[in-house]
Amino acid sequence: MRIGVLTGGGDAPGLNAAIRAITRKALEEKDEVLGIKNGWLGLLEGDTMNLNLETIRGILPRGGTILGTSRTNPFKREKGPQKIQENLKRLKIEALIPIGGEDTLGVALKLSQMGVPVVGIPKTIDNDIPGTTYSLGFDTAVNEVMEALDKLHPTAESHHRVMVVEVMGRNAGWVAAYGGLAGGADVILLPEAPFTLGDVCEQLRNRHQQGKDFSIVVIAEGAKPKDLKSAVVQGTKVDEFGHPRPGGIGHVLAQEVEARTGYETRVTILGHLQRGGSPLAVDRISATRMGVKAVELVRQGKFGTMVALQGDRLVEIPLEEGLAGTRPVDKEIYRLAQIFT
Ligand code: F6P
Repeated sequence: MRIGVLTGGGDAPGLNAAIRAITRKALEEKDEVLGIKNGWLGLLEGDTMNLNLETIRGILPRGGTILGTSRTNPFKREKGPQKIQENLKRLKIEALIPIGGEDTLGVALKLSQMGVPVVGIPKTIDNDIPGTTYSLGFDTAVNEVMEALDKLHPTAESHHRVMVVEVMGRNAGWVAAYGGLAGGADVILLPEAPFTLGDVCEQLRNRHQQGKDFSIVVIAEGAKPKDLKSAVVQGTKVDEFGHPRPGGIGHVLAQEVEARTGYETRVTILGHLQRGGSPLAVDRISATRMGVKAVELVRQGKFGTMVALQGDRLVEIPLEEGLAGTRPVDKEIYRLAQIFT
């Protein structure tokens, strides 16, 4: 069989490990693998690269994706789905393995309903794909936040400051909750747990009254204080999936904290440092397991599915089930966050 592989949406540590696993498993089964460049754009344009033992050599520890990625939505392009079906035929691709988050896999689901044979792999540092307890990139991103907080503690303590750290996650708080817990944050603010600017200032004042004159505050970029008129995003542009560009709440929070409490406050926005690193072991192993499983599902003809981790069990579920609803941070996790902050 000739299997097409693409990586769509935000890049994440572990993508190359998944590409490597798919290629190795397929070649072992005497199948062929064709890399599709830049997410769904590559299928619209017929832009591909060979995936073989030579082209995947040494990619396991590399961040990013050797295929490139994009946030292209073929359903927003002139005759997009039709072009994809024509290119799949012309390229003689018999099955497709898209690796991506809800946007990329949402396109895969629609194409699957049009008869395109797909098996998806869940990837996003946000870890918010409903049908899987783990999405590629999450653990490495959490470690990036933890290490940043370890570095920020000494300087916050030395200057007796409030350090506001804004982390990624789009509308989910997984990166903030896990990164904050692992890094010992004093306050963790999530989209899933309502709070007001007044609550945060009161929590900081209480800390000062207990003699703790510095604080690390982690806030998810999608968190919105109840007493703030609207969510904070960058500019008015939206991408082809309708997403505004997240970010900026950290500065708003810091200004409010300093104005209301008088405590000197600084802001660190971790941004794409959470996306770019070399995958840690969890992401390398999860990617390897998921890549091999996806090829097995293709060979079994189990299309319209996605690979999923449920706890540590590797399963396959129908794409429409895997993408249904949302995946907010577990209540147990943010109760933990409240205990340790
Ligand atoms: O969805 C993954 C993610 O990293 C979000 O956490 C973040 O808000 C977004 O992508 C940033 O997108 P871009 O890299 O296109 O700016």
